[in-house]
Amino acid sequence: MYGIIQAAYVIAALLFIFSLRGLSNQESAKSGNIYGMIGMAIALIAAIASIKGGLHWIIIAMIIGAAIGLYLAKKVEMTQMPELVALLHSFVGMAAVLVGFNSFLDQNSLHYIHQNEFTVHLVEIFVGIFIGAVTFSGSIVAFGKLNGRISSKPLSIPYKHYWNLGAIVVSVILMFIFVKVQSGVGATISLLVMTIIALVFGFHLVASIGGADMPVVISMLNSYSGWAAAAAGFMLGNDLLIVTGALVGSSGAILSYIMCKAMNRSFISVIAGGFGSDGSTSSSSDEEQGEYREMQPADVAQTLKEARSVIIVPGYGMAVAQAQGAVSNITEKLRAMDIEVRFGIHPVAGRLPGHMNVLLAEAKVPYDIVLEMDEINDDFPDTDVVWVIGANDTVNPAAEEDPNSPIAGMPVLEVWKAKTVIISKRSMNTGYAGVQNPLFFKENSYMLFGDAKDSVEKVLQNL
Ligand code: TAP
Repeated sequence: MYGIIQAAYVIAALLFIFSLRGLSNQESAKSGNIYGMIGMAIALIAAIASIKGGLHWIIIAMIIGAAIGLYLAKKVEMTQMPELVALLHSFVGMAAVLVGFNSFLDQNSLHYIHQNEFTVHLVEIFVGIFIGAVTFSGSIVAFGKLNGRISSKPLSIPYKHYWNLGAIVVSVILMFIFVKVQSGVGATISLLVMTIIALVFGFHLVASIGGADMPVVISMLNSYSGWAAAAAGFMLGNDLLIVTGALVGSSGAILSYIMCKAMNRSFISVIAGGFGSDGSTSSSSDEEQGEYREMQPADVAQTLKEARSVIIVPGYGMAVAQAQGAVSNITEKLRAMDIEVRFGIHPVAGRLPGHMNVLLAEAKVPYDIVLEMDEINDDFPDTDVVWVIGANDTVNPAAEEDPNSPIAGMPVLEVWKAKTVIISKRSMNTGYAGVQNPLFFKENSYMLFGDAKDSVEKVLQNL
């Protein structure tokens, strides 16, 4: 039986690798998901088959878990995905903490193993609980920030980096005490104190990061949750959990790195909780920037009709308004009128990577007119009309023009270089990063107020 279970684990691990490979591009993403699902089913069956006793508890837990999972998966909107993912990461963190405490309380059964191995096991427990607790509280804060229950502004307490460093140093000292004492009250207390420190540390780490860097935080927590799972794998002696955790941990770290590059952020700075930034969000771009001009749907239709080239720049607002269908219809109409229409997609537009691409693909917008930021950024000066639909931070010129802006240095779509810019949103409110957008006050900019779907449909009628 042991051999069959190990073989099943190897097959599952291979399927997970195929799954990651498949998820690396849109056309193969579906098969990537299917590989992942088959791999997970094999892993679950093999893990259950290896259990001695207590099976009914596992089945009850699985039924409850699956029911909650199915309900959430059906209910959750695409725009709420990052929140859900953050919450799920917190479960992985919590699981690692529970596995760690369980392994500690159960350690008497391990006394027969060699002393060195026992020491390694204690370190595994300690590190596993530490990573798990950081992942747990960090993910809860990320969840709160993403759904607006916690302010997206970075928390900035004095000497914050010293506090972080202190937490790590104290935890390392506690680990030495724990490994030395090995069991009893002393070991329990050092483990509990470290857990509390790690929970506060995780909270502080994510709370110190501003709204604009949240995409990186989510993928970073994804990576942490992988390491937490790998740590649990070590504690349980489960090879598949180690492999899977390492896959999630390293792919999350690579994704965080890619996103940092896309946003021109220092990777180390973001994972260290906003290291290098003073956390201030006050900047000249926070203030009102003067007068803005408005356009009505009929004027927008007229402006579009007169254009030869149009670039549509969608953002989070298009997703919330579910305007992609209307956007697709208007694209078809304009193209039928011999107007060149293309889309400019910022790497962090929306609330999860690839968000806009998925929505536009669903709405049957042809792939070849949907271009990434780098492919289209040079074309704005030669474009007649740019229509920004529910995007804000990703088109904010302050990123280039105001060195004090919280989004300074982040690459943006240079929409203001086009002849005319039309911005569809409901009000003059700021975007996710909470900073004012000087684009709205530029001389060639016009606001089209209203829900994105209504606005696009009204313009369509007027065409
Ligand atoms: P945002 O900067 O968040 O701006 C979206 C705009 O849409 C808002 O200013 C809002 O203005 C408008 N809006 C909301 N509902 C609308 C509706 N029903 N109809 C019309 N407009 C509506 O979006 P973005 O430009 O896509 O930038 C993405 C931001 O999210 C970045 O700051 C990014 O860092 C962050 N973020 C990204 C990710 C990933 S991975 N992509 C994950 C988390 C966070 P009104 O309220 O005035 O309508």
